[in-house]
Amino acid sequence: MAETSYQTITVDRLSPAVGAEIGGVDIAAGVSEDQMAEIRRAFIDNGVIFLRDQDITPDQHIAFAERWGEINVNRFFKPVDGHPQIAEVRKEPDQTRNIGVNWHTDHSYDQVPAMGSLLYAREVPTLGGDTCFAGMAAAYDALSNGMKATLRNLRAEHSSRHVFGALESPQPTAGPNGNDIAGRIGNAEAATQDATHPVVIEHPLSGRPCLYVNTDFTLRFEGWTDEESKPLLEFLYRHGAMEVFSCRFRWTAGAMAVWDNRAVQHRALNDYHGQRRLMHRITIDGEKLQAA
Ligand code: SIN
Repeated sequence: MAETSYQTITVDRLSPAVGAEIGGVDIAAGVSEDQMAEIRRAFIDNGVIFLRDQDITPDQHIAFAERWGEINVNRFFKPVDGHPQIAEVRKEPDQTRNIGVNWHTDHSYDQVPAMGSLLYAREVPTLGGDTCFAGMAAAYDALSNGMKATLRNLRAEHSSRHVFGALESPQPTAGPNGNDIAGRIGNAEAATQDATHPVVIEHPLSGRPCLYVNTDFTLRFEGWTDEESKPLLEFLYRHGAMEVFSCRFRWTAGAMAVWDNRAVQHRALNDYHGQRRLMHRITIDGEKLQAA
């Protein structure tokens, strides 16, 4: 990728495929239109950007999020008190499960999936709790021409039902404390979303072809049985998660990630038992996805 030059921010790329740390931004002090344009450029070029040392209130988080688009109020996550626009991503020291442990793309079960999220770290463990991101344009580019041609003819079915609708039942991965995700994620009866999307989408901002299937929400290829879909989906999940397409962000309190669900997948590591991790997430509406 050709390096873009920037006047108002610094951009320190975390890997060739995905992710960049942005410097020179103070959200609380105000972000000019010129600076916002450069932040957006870095976001499009890198799929996910990280801004450290932001000291912001929930209202400032909301105001910054509104500069990216319409806020999408989450159906399932517990909201921050007094701020329904902000979803809480919390794990307490006595809790076993975390939120978002599998590779996924937020809201792919919606017919018009969310553009992305602004995740802000309020409290982080001394070590662990990193978030990993994988670039779906690089993952697509690395496939053979034969596989690319096959995938471009396919659509996949996604749903929220088997994930958020199943929360009240015990989970096999629940661990010794049982299904301790309850209370942090709920509203299972609202998990009625089903959608089909192209398996290879044209990224709405960069125009790059991106793989668009994920372990959490994708069920099968349209017109294929589950049994037929499974081997190819599992190959694509393994392929997309390869280290060469990914980066890993070590959080510090006050850091913010802004990611694009159409360009990246993410997963939150659950390796900090006994410590609190508290993040505030605001999600932004997206647009209908087109085939590449
Ligand atoms: C999420 O999947 O949105 C949560 C990511 C994280 O907590 O790092």
